Amino acid sequence: MIDTHCHLNDNQFDNDLDKVINDFFLSGGGAMICVGADLKSSMNAKIIADSNDNIYYTIGVHPDDCDKYNESELEDMLLTRSDKLVAIGEIGLDYFHNKENRAKQIEVFVSQINLAIKYNLPIVIHCREAYQDVYNILKEYSPLKIGVVMHCYSGSLEFANQLIKLGVKLSFTGSVTFKNAVKAKEVVKNIPLDTFFFETDAPYLTPEPNRGKRNEPKNVFDTVKYVASLREMDVEKIIKITDQNAKKFFNIEFV
Ligand code: NI
Repeated sequence: MIDTHCHLNDNQFDNDLDKVINDFFLSGGGAMICVGADLKSSMNAKIIADSNDNIYYTIGVHPDDCDKYNESELEDMLLTRSDKLVAIGEIGLDYFHNKENRAKQIEVFVSQINLAIKYNLPIVIHCREAYQDVYNILKEYSPLKIGVVMHCYSGSLEFANQLIKLGVKLSFTGSVTFKNAVKAKEVVKNIPLDTFFFETDAPYLTPEPNRGKRNEPKNVFDTVKYVASLREMDVEKIIKITDQNAKKFFNIEFV
């Protein structure tokens, strides 16, 4: 099983990173993708991936940090990438945290999409209260041939279907296990099996029954078990299918 999106580079893991990594593999985990959110965390993601088997990384600047974005700095990281780099992300738009700087967020998002196209890498999108703008940008800049995933999807089923029609993949965190996540449950229950995969977003969004504690990649199993029961499916079967989706999307192999 793969955790397609975790922040092992977060300072909440500074004291016990090796244990967190080991616990994931001991729980039956197969691979993890450590996600960058600014230049520093992207560099740390690379270091973690390069020093561990079956850990991959992404680089990118999150919309919350768009003021610090510098295209040539990110391109330098692309030029010095290792073979563990699997995507550009997390990038996107966040109007929940800040709607005053929309134009800047869009500029930085588009710049990173263009780099992803240039280097032929899929993108991992963070989107909060900005679905329509993200959708319009995806249509206009059509990065869909390189692969697009909406991380921690929490929009409507109707919008999910529009995205799926464009070829976008969705990924789900432990937030689908939360009692009030009515929309997300409806989405993850009804979309086609070849359109999504799982992530933890650790150290955030811990699934039930550990909600409130620090999240770890091993908890991805709690989320997949929950979704298997929602869909009335065998857990092993849903893991097999969604792992296959992730392997294809990120172009990686693991057991
Ligand atoms: Ni994240």
